[in-house]
Amino acid sequence: MNRRIPRRISLIGFMGSGKTTVARLLSVKTGYKYIDLDSLVEQRTGRSVQEIFKVEGEKTFRSYESQALMTLQEQNDIVISTGGGTPIQENNRRFFSELSFTVFLYVSFDEMLKRTFAGKKSSDLRPLLQQPVKGIENLYRQRLPVYESLGVKIITDNATPMEICDEIVFLSGL
Ligand code: S3P
Repeated sequence: MNRRIPRRISLIGFMGSGKTTVARLLSVKTGYKYIDLDSLVEQRTGRSVQEIFKVEGEKTFRSYESQALMTLQEQNDIVISTGGGTPIQENNRRFFSELSFTVFLYVSFDEMLKRTFAGKKSSDLRPLLQQPVKGIENLYRQRLPVYESLGVKIITDNATPMEICDEIVFLSGL
């Protein structure tokens, strides 16, 4: 088989799908550098994601996020934990379809609520989770087809982060 080894691995999926945890493990296992896109935005702007949403709004956050993603086009041997909304921006999609091996971490809606709300005060929740559950569900349902179209799907509900990591290593040929 003549398969090229991917130089960039991206994990996409809704909030609470385990992107960060799995990307960290994957980085240790493969030796690829771990990059968290939210943290990269925070480093580049000097502000937290929460603050950016609050002070500058989501639209500005999305432009910072795209700019941060574009800086990764030229980097090799990296594992990227994206934000849940990153692939939703059309201008970011080429990165996932052409410039990286992209994995969609699927989490069911109920499991996602459990994971993201566990032990949190409402002010500690991620900005887009600070709305009625119906709104979160709409966002979740709208996003699924986009994630599906861009990444190899792994169902995370009953899998451990290590199992998911091993599966990605297998699927990517790393
Ligand atoms: C967002 C997800 C967050 C962060 C921001 C917006 C989203 O990242 O980028 O709060 O639109 O789903 P995580 O998916 O890592 O929580």
